[in-house]
Amino acid sequence: MDVLLSAERIQARVGELARQIAEDYHGQPLTIVGVLTGSLIFLADLVRRLDLPLRIGLLQASSYRGAVTAPGELRVGPDLVPDVRGRHVLLLDDILDTGQTLAPLVRHLRDLGPLSVRVAVLLRKVGRQTVVLEPDYFGFDIPNAFVVGYGLDYNDEYRNLPYLAVLPTAGAAEAARDTR
Ligand code: IMP
Ligand code: MG
Repeated sequence: MDVLLSAERIQARVGELARQIAEDYHGQPLTIVGVLTGSLIFLADLVRRLDLPLRIGLLQASSYRGAVTAPGELRVGPDLVPDVRGRHVLLLDDILDTGQTLAPLVRHLRDLGPLSVRVAVLLRKVGRQTVVLEPDYFGFDIPNAFVVGYGLDYNDEYRNLPYLAVLPTAGAAEAARDTR
C-alpha cells in the first residue's frame, strides 16, 4: 500500500496538536470524547502528551446511508461520557469526511451542558464536507482517497498500522465502508 503519512510525521503532528491544545485550555479541566472506533489510536497518543486535568469519554455513532434509511441518519449508541457539566469538551475523531457524523455529535454533547464543545480531527478530506463544520484542531488535509491505518479501517481491519496508507481498491472500499 502507498504510505500517505509516515508514523514519524503523524507522531510529530500529534505532538504539535497537543501543545496547541494545552496552551488553549491553559490548565482548565477538559473532557476528551472520542468517537469509536476510529479515534482510539489518535486519542491514546494525544492524551499522553496533554498536561491538563483530563477525563476521557467515548461514544459510538453509526450512520446509515444505504437504501434502507435516509442518507446521513445518525444513531448515537450508548455513550460512556462522564458528567461534562461545568467542563470543557473536546470531541475527537479520526477523520472529517462529509461531516455528517460529527455535526450531530456536537449538538448531542452541547445538550449535556458543558462549558464549551470543540472538535479535533487528525485528518480532513479536502472538498468533501457537506455540513458546515470547521474543526478547531486538525492534523492534516488529505486528498479524496480511501485511507486506512492509525485507527482508520476497511471492514474493521488495518486500524493497527502505525502509518496512514491509501487502500488500493479505493472505489470499492468507499462503497462498502461503514463509519464505526
Ligand atoms: P463523515 O460522517 O462523512 O464525516 O465520515 C466520518 C467517518 O467515516 C469517519 O469517522 C470514518 O470512520 C469514516 N471514514 C471516512 N473516510 C474514511 C477513509 O478514508 N477511511 C476510513 N474511514 C473513513
Ligand atoms: Mg469513525
